[in-house]
Amino acid sequence: MSDTQLLQELETLRSDIRRHNKLYYVDDNPEVSDAEYDRLMRRLQEIEAARPELITPDSPTQRVGAAPLKEFGTVTHNVPMLSLANAMDEEELKEFDQRVKRALSTTADIEYVFEPKIDGLAFEAIYEHGVFVSGSTRGDGVTGEDVTQNLKTVKAIPLRLSQELDADGKPTFPLPSRLEVRGEVYMDKADFAKLNKEREQTGEPLFANPRNSAAGSLRQLDPTITAKRPLKAFFYALGQVEGISFASQFEMLAMFRKMGLPTAFHYRCQSIEEVLQRYHELHERRDSLPYEIDGSVVKVNSFQLQQELGMISRSPRWAIAFKFPATQETTTINDIIVQVGRTGALTPVAVLEPVNLRGVLVSRATLHNQDEIERKDIRIGDTAVIQRAGDVIPEVVKIIDTKRTGNEQKFVMPTQCPVCKGAVVRPAGEAVHRCTNHDCPAKQIGHLEHFVSKRAMNIDGVSSKLLELFIDNGLIKDAADLYSITKAQLLPLERMADKSAENVIQAIEKSKQPELWRFIFALGIRHVGEHTAKVLAKHFGSLDKLRQATEAELTTVYEIGTEVAKSVAQFFQKPETDMLLKKFAAAGIQIVNPQSAAGAQPLAGKSFVLTGTLATMTRDAAKEMIEKAGGRVASSVSKNTDYVVAGSDAGSKLAKAQQLGVTVLSEEEFQALLNE
Ligand code: IVH
Repeated sequence: MSDTQLLQELETLRSDIRRHNKLYYVDDNPEVSDAEYDRLMRRLQEIEAARPELITPDSPTQRVGAAPLKEFGTVTHNVPMLSLANAMDEEELKEFDQRVKRALSTTADIEYVFEPKIDGLAFEAIYEHGVFVSGSTRGDGVTGEDVTQNLKTVKAIPLRLSQELDADGKPTFPLPSRLEVRGEVYMDKADFAKLNKEREQTGEPLFANPRNSAAGSLRQLDPTITAKRPLKAFFYALGQVEGISFASQFEMLAMFRKMGLPTAFHYRCQSIEEVLQRYHELHERRDSLPYEIDGSVVKVNSFQLQQELGMISRSPRWAIAFKFPATQETTTINDIIVQVGRTGALTPVAVLEPVNLRGVLVSRATLHNQDEIERKDIRIGDTAVIQRAGDVIPEVVKIIDTKRTGNEQKFVMPTQCPVCKGAVVRPAGEAVHRCTNHDCPAKQIGHLEHFVSKRAMNIDGVSSKLLELFIDNGLIKDAADLYSITKAQLLPLERMADKSAENVIQAIEKSKQPELWRFIFALGIRHVGEHTAKVLAKHFGSLDKLRQATEAELTTVYEIGTEVAKSVAQFFQKPETDMLLKKFAAAGIQIVNPQSAAGAQPLAGKSFVLTGTLATMTRDAAKEMIEKAGGRVASSVSKNTDYVVAGSDAGSKLAKAQQLGVTVLSEEEFQALLNE
């Protein structure tokens, strides 16, 4: 390929990726699948790895890779980041409207913009000539922390602003020479719940709510940690601006979107009455939104009027936060019962005196596990503060000990499973109690739910309810039975019309050629989450190889710890597993493994450590190439390391390699090895 062609491909890839980012994050209307997007990214990485001199700081590949910091630098905002005064009810909102009118000496209705108040962490991003250059947290409003490297990992924040082109291909607006934009970094409720679940499994402390988890994630000294957190962002305000101007909040938000800066939904309202109407609407919708909001923000639309109104004690006179009523409630814990999940985990649940929380009558709250109950000292009969956090499942925040009468009773974990009476154990070092009976019906339904779930076999339209019906009607005993269900068997079931029966059959049929990692994940092996399933699929390449692997072999796989190795080996040794897999095969399940189609794997099984600065590629690119060739990259040198690739300024890792007699490769030698 000629250089011109290469440059052209590079530019096309970058602009395509940017366009897909905008379609996804701004327009909420993606055009391509994740796989297609990944393919574009990989191709771009490939080219940049081969021609690192062509890498630009705003290339979509440049989101991760910065080294961890010792501490954050401080940044003084060019324009202070203000906070908002609150209106707690209708009356206070109307007073705000009156104040605005008085200050503007008018009786005419004011035009407002109504926005949701996103419950995240305020930040500022600075773009120079359309390129993201730095960013910071709000801090105290005057100075914040420099979180540039962390913000770069947030895909919703463009590294480069988009431009809209007219029919002649000319930009419809100039990119400002400087644009300081403000917004909120947040986490979707579902992503938050998933993150906490993973943390629970790995024994890390849980985040209390999506806000804390967004804040905690953005304020990581190691940007590679931030990169792994599912952060998103919305923009809603300006700092200093040069080279562009806006007449109103509404116009500014529209322009943000054109520039590729995501905004939350928002409305123009012609009067404070219309604002109120929007507020009630929003309150209704609150729980169906994918992210947490704690109310609305009402802003005078015209920038001219905003300027006339000015500010008072660090808050603008032209805006107000119109909050929702509190979401915590106090109630009594009438009982503590125990639920059994897919893995047999016993979860204690508080049975509450029903209480209205955000319009939903709540009568249960999760207590997570025994340790949590002890930590919060929760007893049956206690008066407790409960809340609905990011998770839809309400939880107990704390108990009110001044309300104790002395009649409260401590909770004890049952020694028998409440569902099947099987023995309950708490494995050493774990926070959870588990039912040990393999055939426990609670596990069965949980297993099936997991099997059909989106990230596993992705059998659309087979709900938990439907699975229960299948079991109750004797249609299935295990996941493999799903594949022998016929339409004739479905039709007599409750609320099963011809079309829906057809859809179910189709969905099941469609799942018959799962990717290897999905199938491994779907099997529901203890400790094998999505990521581990991918690691295993990549390493072993086929289900048969994985089945044959001994515990010792499994332990040698990078990222597979002793506990996972043990669990996997045990799983495949069980005769039940053998039977199940035979049933799957008989049902016509054909596992595909795109990984093994990737080509030769000359570095299969080889372990690398990268150190120092490489001249022709980034470390990430080198890592990618090694992994593609079947090798793996570790962070520290041990006697198991096969090669250390040493760039310039290599330090202690090089010394360690020499000390242990590990082969050290120069960058050229490494390239040669890759090309072998
Ligand atoms: S406007 C002067 N708009 O609420 C403009 N703020 O108490 C100040 N927030 O620090 C911000 N959603 O963290 C604005 N749509 C929105 C918002 C919003 C959330 C947060 C932000 C700010 C705080 C103000």
